[in-house]
Amino acid sequence: MKLLVTGGAGFIGANFIRYWLSNYPEDVVFNLDKLTYAGNLESLKGLEGNENYRFVKGDIVDSALVNDLFQKEKFEVVVHFAAESHVDRSILESSVFVKTNVLGTQILLDAALKNQVRRFHHISTDEVFGAIEEGENRKFKEDSPYAPRSPYSASKAASDHLVRAYHISLGLPVTITNCSNNYGPYHFPEKLIPLAITNLLEGKKVPIYGSGRQSRDWLYVEDHVKAVDLVLRKGKVGESYCVGGMSTQVTNLEVVKMICQILGKDFEPSVEFVKDRPGHDFKYVIDWGKINQELGWKPLYDFQTYLQKTVSWYRENQDWWKRVKSGQYQDYYLKQYGERQPALSH
Ligand code: NAD
Ligand code: DAU
Repeated sequence: MKLLVTGGAGFIGANFIRYWLSNYPEDVVFNLDKLTYAGNLESLKGLEGNENYRFVKGDIVDSALVNDLFQKEKFEVVVHFAAESHVDRSILESSVFVKTNVLGTQILLDAALKNQVRRFHHISTDEVFGAIEEGENRKFKEDSPYAPRSPYSASKAASDHLVRAYHISLGLPVTITNCSNNYGPYHFPEKLIPLAITNLLEGKKVPIYGSGRQSRDWLYVEDHVKAVDLVLRKGKVGESYCVGGMSTQVTNLEVVKMICQILGKDFEPSVEFVKDRPGHDFKYVIDWGKINQELGWKPLYDFQTYLQKTVSWYRENQDWWKRVKSGQYQDYYLKQYGERQPALSH
């Protein structure tokens, strides 16, 4: 089988390509990635020599490039990860989110339609469903109403609607997964877990937004990748599947406390409470009953153990994240958190 993976140099895309080529070594995987600040070919190190892996540097918004590639390569399956993915960046500047996440998705959908791909799988997020408020007990399901609250989630919601519309009106065979917060190796250190681990390893404090009582439904990246695999093989065309983790409702404070404990740091002197994220979503909780009942998927990796393994990965791969944290990322860090990058007081 010949697959096009978009955004394969990002966190989840790189984990997906590694998983796919080790489980289906006979398949050919093309990775189309623009290599934005978040794209890193070092996350795919070791695959360069693999004849069944090809990298194409390019922008999904470049319709000429996308159309040429589809025409030439005749992909059977598209797995679309490429996106601008960070909520805080979307609040600072949203135009690139609309370009990549909305227009880029539409350009890929058109190319997939023209070239009759067998399946277009769209990677989406639980954030399209908005936020669960404090004291509310509901969970996000496939039929939860769309209620995005950040420019990022609004752009992802728009892309989901386009994907569904291309199925309903134009007959493109699509599937969508809406997953919760992933964590694991190769996660860009602007997101909470890798930011906390790497700041602590560098002797810096961890910035906690607002009260820190918000919570996320943490999903180990390999569990997510396995869910996508299953949906590609057994999922019903035209359907969406919600994918969530084993640990629901761990607050940000608890997550950072766990990381401090793993690294042997005291919590109080290791954190700094900073201005809250505007429109900060309080809680996400996923009901993954549909993918469990219909396809037999369930998360296998518990948060406690796999958070520990993730911390070990960052400890052992300091070259990877130190290079990532230099350069452009420093400019963003200063814009987001100001001049505060204090060393830990021991
Ligand atoms: P990421 O930011 O780590 O990686 C995104 C990748 O897309 C990068 O390699 C980047 O270079 C590439 N890219 C960006 N714009 C591009 C463009 N115009 N053309 C080609 N390539 C481009 O993102 P991630 O965390 O791996 O997320 C992957 C997908 O999963 C996204 O669609 C995101 O919305 C979704 N998602 C992520 C999470 C999460 O917790 N990380 C949770 C739910 C859904
Ligand atoms: O739910 C899925 C989404 O998860 C994905 O669609 C997004 O692409 C991904 O970035 C992630 O979004 P979040 O906003 O939930 O992730 P982030 O790691 O940015 O933040 C997690 C929580 O931690 C959130 O409540 C905000 C808080 N936070 C984050 C940062 C970066 C802090 O307290 N301090 C920080 O410095």
